Amino acid sequence: MCGIIGYIGNNVEQKLLKGLEKLEYRGYDSAGLCVLRHGNFYVEKSKGSVEKLREKTCVKSEFGLGIAHTRWATHGKITIENAHPHFSSKGEVALVHNGIIENFEELKSALEEKGVYFYGETDSEVAAKLLSGRLSLKKIQNLVKKIKGTYAFAIISKKNNSIYFAKNKSPLYVAIGKDCSMIASDPSCFVGACDSFYPVDDGEYGKLDLKKVVFIDKHDKVVLKKSKKLDIDYFVDGKNGYEHFMLKEIYESKNVLGNIIQNYSSPLYKKLLEKVTEIDFNRVYFVGCGTAYHAGLIGQRYFMNNIKKDVFCERASEFSYQNRILDQKSLCVFISQSGETIDTIASLDYAKRCGAKIVSITNVSYSTIACKADINLPIFAGPEIAVASTKAFVGQCAVLFLLSKVLSGQNYIDDLVSLKEDLDFGDDEKLKRFAKKLASEDKVLFIGRGFDYITSLEASLKLKEISYINSIVEPSGELKHGPIALVEEGTILVVLATESELFIKTINNAYETKSRGAKLCLVTNQIVTETIQKEFDYVFKVKNTTSELMPVQTIVLLQKLAYYVAVTKKTNPDKPRNLAKSVTVE
Ligand code: G6P
Repeated sequence: MCGIIGYIGNNVEQKLLKGLEKLEYRGYDSAGLCVLRHGNFYVEKSKGSVEKLREKTCVKSEFGLGIAHTRWATHGKITIENAHPHFSSKGEVALVHNGIIENFEELKSALEEKGVYFYGETDSEVAAKLLSGRLSLKKIQNLVKKIKGTYAFAIISKKNNSIYFAKNKSPLYVAIGKDCSMIASDPSCFVGACDSFYPVDDGEYGKLDLKKVVFIDKHDKVVLKKSKKLDIDYFVDGKNGYEHFMLKEIYESKNVLGNIIQNYSSPLYKKLLEKVTEIDFNRVYFVGCGTAYHAGLIGQRYFMNNIKKDVFCERASEFSYQNRILDQKSLCVFISQSGETIDTIASLDYAKRCGAKIVSITNVSYSTIACKADINLPIFAGPEIAVASTKAFVGQCAVLFLLSKVLSGQNYIDDLVSLKEDLDFGDDEKLKRFAKKLASEDKVLFIGRGFDYITSLEASLKLKEISYINSIVEPSGELKHGPIALVEEGTILVVLATESELFIKTINNAYETKSRGAKLCLVTNQIVTETIQKEFDYVFKVKNTTSELMPVQTIVLLQKLAYYVAVTKKTNPDKPRNLAKSVTVE
């Protein structure tokens, strides 16, 4: 997490602030910038969003060089002292950092013994304190040799007119424009200024000047790189008239399905799917975090339904700590919207070391995970800005569905076409009424069986993430083995029941809570009889589609429900507390 940016060119403060706004999804605890002009630093820092930093910053339309940072706190509280940039002892070197310096305590003690004073509590300040005076590539080489951990650094000094950088396991990109040079955690910052960019690889460091860059690899050799074209269409942003990115992105699910249908019907992507069929495997692991993990659970069911192999799904943060069979005959499918989640990257590296074949499902084609995979299957969702993932989940499920069908030799695209046509976002007024009720609750329970259980996990995560309601999920049949003890007069139970064979069982489980005082909400595509209607306080009918795709049909409605709860509670759905969209720390 954390976003860093560096810029050399005209309107430096404005460019840094604009870049930070694009990087805010990476953290919004504090923000800061440092601009070098006429041999002096101009520094501004603020707690909270980039907007606050903008209010404080004196924007000059002059040429200059600067670095900036938006923070997701790891070491040290959210204070001005801990906000980046951080400074060397004499204040002549400024540094921004994304990542975690694992040996910072050891380095800090050694520096303190030498009398170095630390004004803050961050690991990043240690790196700044290891530097002084005029910067050089040699000094950066020495710095990275001392540091253990993950980092993307951008560093400037009052005595140079360059931005120095280094990278290990945190994303970093460089771009050279017509009249500027830039470095950032995400190429979206380059839009409007540069047409192409260079990814910085792990272990590399270098020096950026106006219209010139030098990359040095981990063996201290100069590297010549080919630039990648910046896909401007991908980065089209803005809320398009919506109040929040989240709502816009929920509605964009239809386009995502359209993009997937179109692209995966083309020879290029059909071939990519077919390449997976050429892999010789007898066991499959789906791995991801958060929403991507839930997509993995859906993928696991698809594979269990369609191919006769052992199929597992695990959270990336746990994957490499278990003893299991993981070898050349294993297929590992890593799912990640950003393609930069560090736990997922670590699991991918581990699976590679074990000889497994790697497929990734990502939304960012230049991301670390996409580049490391043997085969990357894109989801074509376009930028997802809201922290809570919505349209990416739809894209991940759709691609997993295609993959399972291709692997079992079935015709697949028609089901997705019908889903796209019928995708139903629910009745707004009804959703808002129920959202108002939920907004006044401290806890809510979700139940479901089969696919509905997994959809409930995702629906509950959305609610938790953006409205902070204590939301609990149980498979319907498990309620009476413990969780039913939580039910008291007025407890809200959201019941997902879209599978005809499981419908009555789940309805009966709901009744068991009703007789203990629960208020019931039903989400279903099945026929709702008068008796059922009477027992349920809220009923949401969703359109029918092929049963394997019901999770997608249902989730868009529940994503909107979570959105309306957040709006009712006046919490910001795009920037929920304590969270960041791209999680680049383990
Ligand atoms: C964070 C985000 C979640 C996301 C998860 C995985 O926790 O807040 O919304 O699902 O990371 O992210 P990825 O980019 O790997 O899908």
